[in-house]
Amino acid sequence: MSRKKICRIGVLTSGGDAPGMNAAIRSVVRTAIYNNLEVAGVIRGYSGLINKQFMSMQSHSVSKIISQGGTILKSSRCPEFRDKEMRKIAYENLREACIDALVVIGGDGSFRGANLLYKEFGYPVVGIPGTIDNDIYGTDFTIGFDTAINTAVSAVDKLRDTADSHNIIFFVEVMGRDSGFIALNTAIATGAEATLVPEVHTDIDKLCSYMELDRRKNKTSGIIIVAEGEDGGGAMEVAEKVKTRLPSYEMRVTTLGHIQRGGSPSCNDRVLASILGHEAVNALIQGRFGVMVGQMQNQTVYTPFDEACSRHNEINKNWHEISRILSL
Ligand code: ADP
Ligand code: F6P
Repeated sequence: MSRKKICRIGVLTSGGDAPGMNAAIRSVVRTAIYNNLEVAGVIRGYSGLINKQFMSMQSHSVSKIISQGGTILKSSRCPEFRDKEMRKIAYENLREACIDALVVIGGDGSFRGANLLYKEFGYPVVGIPGTIDNDIYGTDFTIGFDTAINTAVSAVDKLRDTADSHNIIFFVEVMGRDSGFIALNTAIATGAEATLVPEVHTDIDKLCSYMELDRRKNKTSGIIIVAEGEDGGGAMEVAEKVKTRLPSYEMRVTTLGHIQRGGSPSCNDRVLASILGHEAVNALIQGRFGVMVGQMQNQTVYTPFDEACSRHNEINKNWHEISRILSL
C-alpha cells in the first residue's frame, strides 16, 4: 500500500516545558510553510490530541516567540495517553482533522507515547528533544538545558554572596529527577564545594568529611549542589542529616525549583531548537518516521524512538571528582 502524501502536519509540546520550545515550534511552522505544507498546532500535548484541540498556524502565528520561554502551544502530562483506547481516539482525531504527520517536542516520556502512536497505527511521527534535564540519548544537548544551567548558575552566584557574608553552608537543590547534568554543570561553573547526583550514591559521612576538611582550610562558607533525584532524600533531608553530625555549622537550604524551566532561551537553545525544528520537518518529508532528531558533533542524527527511550545520556562521572578537586 502506498503511503499517504503528507499535506498537513501537527506539532505539539509535551511533558515539562523547556526554554526554546517556542523556537522549535517557530522553526517547524516556518519550515513546513516553506515546503507548502499546512500546519496545525495541538494544544496541551497529548491531551489536545484526545480532546481535538487543534489550531491552524500561519507564519505570523509564530512571530516574536523565538525569545519567549514556555510554550505557546501549552504542555501537559497526560496519563490517559498510556491507555491504548485513548491513543486510538487520538489517532482517529488526527485523521479526522486531516493531520497527516506529527512533530512531538518533549522528553523521553513523550517519545514513548509518540513511539506507540507510530507503531500501533503506522502514524508518521518525528520527535525533537525538549527537556532541561539533558538526559536524552541521541543528541549532545536537549533544548532548554543551556538556559536552565545558566539560570541555576546565576542563582547560585547570588547565594554565594550571602554564604560568604554570613559564613553559611548553602544546600542548593536543582532539578534532575533521574539525571545529574544540571547539578554537575552548575557545580563546576559556580565552584561548589560538593555535588550530589542521582548517578552516585550519597554518602553523608564523606560529605561531612569534605565539609570538615574545608573548615580546617579556613573556608568559612560553602555551596553544596543537590540534584533533586539523588538518593539522600533531597537537599532538606541531606542538610538535616549533616546538621546532626556537624551541629555547629550554620546551614540553609534553597530549592531553585521551576525557575530553572522558565525564562528567555539562551542563544544556544534558540539555535539548537531552530535547527532541530527544521530537520524534523525535513525528516517527515523524506519519510523518516519513528525517530528523534538530534545534533551530535554538529551533525543531524536520527535515533529510533526505541533507542531514544531505552537509553540515556550519561554524565561523565570524572567531572564529579574534577569539580571537587577544583574547589579545594
Ligand atoms: P517528558 O516527556 O518530559 O519525559 P513525561 O514523562 O511526563 O515527560 O511524559 C509526557 C507524557 O508522555 C505523559 O504525560 C504521557 O502523556 C506520555 N507518556 C509517557 N510515557 C508513556 C508511555 N509509556 N506510554 C504512553 N504515553 C506515555
Ligand atoms: O522536565 C523535567 C523536570 O524538570 C525534572 O527534572 C523534574 O523532576 C520535573 O521536571 C518536575 O516537573 P513537574 O513539577 O512538572 O512534575
